[in-house]
Amino acid sequence: MNFNNPKLIFKDIPSGKVGWQSPSNIALVKYWGKTGIQIPANPSLSFTLSKSLTKTIVEFFPVSEKTSNIDFHFEGELNNKFGEKTRNFFDSMNEIFPFINQLDFRISTKNTFPHSAGIASSASGMSAVALALCEIERRYFDTLSTEEEFFQKASFVARLGSGSACRSIYGGLVSWGEIEGYERTSNLFGCKLPVNIDPVFNNFHDSILIVDSGQKKVSSTIGHGLMNSNPFSAERFKQANNNIASLIEIIGNGDLEHFVSIVESEALTLHAMMMTSNPYFLLMKPNTISIINSIWEFRKETGINACFTLDAGPNIHLLHPEENKKEVRGFINNELLKYTINNTVIHDRVGSGPEKIE
Ligand code: PMV
Repeated sequence: MNFNNPKLIFKDIPSGKVGWQSPSNIALVKYWGKTGIQIPANPSLSFTLSKSLTKTIVEFFPVSEKTSNIDFHFEGELNNKFGEKTRNFFDSMNEIFPFINQLDFRISTKNTFPHSAGIASSASGMSAVALALCEIERRYFDTLSTEEEFFQKASFVARLGSGSACRSIYGGLVSWGEIEGYERTSNLFGCKLPVNIDPVFNNFHDSILIVDSGQKKVSSTIGHGLMNSNPFSAERFKQANNNIASLIEIIGNGDLEHFVSIVESEALTLHAMMMTSNPYFLLMKPNTISIINSIWEFRKETGINACFTLDAGPNIHLLHPEENKKEVRGFINNELLKYTINNTVIHDRVGSGPEKIE
């Protein structure tokens, strides 16, 4: 597919409004390390979430001055920092969406998860904006006429905003990056793997325990960059490829014990890469470790296949099957809430992907 479509020649666009809501996602096999323009060093695999969403409304008007202007409102208030970030992103999209220069924008976004929860909103936020831009293109140009083209371009664009955002464009289990043996996989956009999925994974739960709500000390951009000089990176990229192959098999046969061991190893390896970077850094907090130890204890005592994963931060994602929801909720309330900020836990689960806001 040609993402810089020559059909997108100049055309008058009247004022209008589009809206999309898009979820966050949690990686099972992690993307950590990239080359060029957001090309992942290894393929990754994630579950799209259901409740942790960004809702974005984009209003657009023919430009009133020489250059296009963006007003960005976050949670009802003008936010110049997000406005500037979006401006830079839009400026880098001139060839992909030439109509951007013709329009002024008023973008309003809100998240369904608390702002102070320390949950990265770049995946949900960037995917929602990418979908909104594709929606403008679909409405006024003779392009993106199939659902497949529409979502593929949205995923391509979301990737340029924030790598992992490209996986939020689809529901369920989503991959990003070339996987051996799967022709439709790409480094340029996410895709739904044509694989068997055991029903246990269609309704998997992710309870997100908020251990710390502060700003990250090291951004993902810097973290990815440090993989270039990490002495273990080549082995890590090999391991991720092997883990994806194993996980695809496990997702098909529902082997939860094996699932747990790969998912937890991926989370710890991600953080091991941070600890072995130069300069090294540490994003886990003491309470992160306390929760991990409690989860191991709980699994040993009950035999329930609940496991943890982490993204680039200290918060724990406690993954577990629907059939163990009650026991896991009890465990969280009795043993884990004490390690969180103000008893904050977000009970999310695998979701079906973004939706248009009418
Ligand atoms: O999309 P970025 O650049 O914020 O990187 C996200 C990286 C991890 O969340 C740590 C892993 C992943 O695959 O989502």
